[in-house]
Amino acid sequence: MLVLAVESSCDETAIAIYDGRGGQLLAHRVHSQTDVHTAYGGVVPELAARDHMRRLPTLARGAMSDAGLGYDRLDAVAYTAGPGLAGALMTGAAFAKGLATARGLPALAINHLEGHLLAPMLGEDPPSFPFLALLVSGGHSQLIEVAAVGRYRLLGESLDDAVGEAFDKSAKLMGLGYPGGAALSRLAEEGDPTAIPFTRPMINRPGLDLSFSGLKTAVANAVAAGYPHQDVAASFERTVIDTLEIKLRRALDQTGLERLVVAGGVAANRPLRARLTAMMSARDGTAYFPEIALCTDNAAMIALAGYLRLSAGERDPSAGFSVRARWPLEMLAAPGQGQAA
Ligand code: KG4
Ligand code: ZN
Repeated sequence: MLVLAVESSCDETAIAIYDGRGGQLLAHRVHSQTDVHTAYGGVVPELAARDHMRRLPTLARGAMSDAGLGYDRLDAVAYTAGPGLAGALMTGAAFAKGLATARGLPALAINHLEGHLLAPMLGEDPPSFPFLALLVSGGHSQLIEVAAVGRYRLLGESLDDAVGEAFDKSAKLMGLGYPGGAALSRLAEEGDPTAIPFTRPMINRPGLDLSFSGLKTAVANAVAAGYPHQDVAASFERTVIDTLEIKLRRALDQTGLERLVVAGGVAANRPLRARLTAMMSARDGTAYFPEIALCTDNAAMIALAGYLRLSAGERDPSAGFSVRARWPLEMLAAPGQGQAA
């Protein structure tokens, strides 16, 4: 069962081909548009859409040749239908749906967040259900109870900035470019994480919600006060990780879950991976992460979600397609059960 997947929700154009029965990723190409957007200090939606359109055909041809396959071998096409930038989503959806229609294949509309959550299942030692998920990306910071594919319960989320956004905004304040999360983390390796006693946001409040905009302001103040950037970066990173760990302990205690999945771009952060791995093993549980290259946006995770839904009987019989700029995980249904309105 071979699934080709298309991802175009933000500023990465990606195509992957996944062999579901063999559990093998046959091809996985990502083109990052960073060069297109750097000068603007953030993603420009119209430029993103135009660049996706330009790159998709070549990327798809490249992925097919990596896999050594002809289009006649495909069994389905999966595409990210949201959440994301509407125009960017539209280009990927049109490409995928066009390919599916031309080849008479089912097309599956996949939720980008579901893709991130399931990405660790592409690894050597995949987690089994149920698990607690921490989804931390540039646009989302959520704690989710995952019972099965399509069965998600939101336990808490950021009330303002996402974790990746806080990394990126702090990095920008230190002149580290955009998106600067990974660069900030590299700089932090040279700094003293105890240099600046940032307040850990929301830890004294009950519940599982998060907030990072105050921390970003504190970083701005520390930079303005002249603290060395490496110390600001290290103290910021430590504060974020402390806060996430405290909230995760609370969520694990409340739910009784023993497996933790960390996904989304910020899951590539090595100190975060180390800390949460240690936390879970001290609790006799296990932490699971996607491999580093599959933390940030990619189509492999969309292909896997597509395969899991397809093999559970889901089809997309409609001739048209629609994308959703907003599409909360809780609106999803188990495969083949229809989407909640
Ligand atoms: O999942 P993703 O590629 O895109 C969204 O769906 O948002 O996540 C991108 C985010 C960016 O904010 C980026 O700075 C952050 O992930 N990120 C990191 C690291 N690598 C990527 N943040 C902290 N440490 C990293 N090593
Ligand atoms: Zn993402």
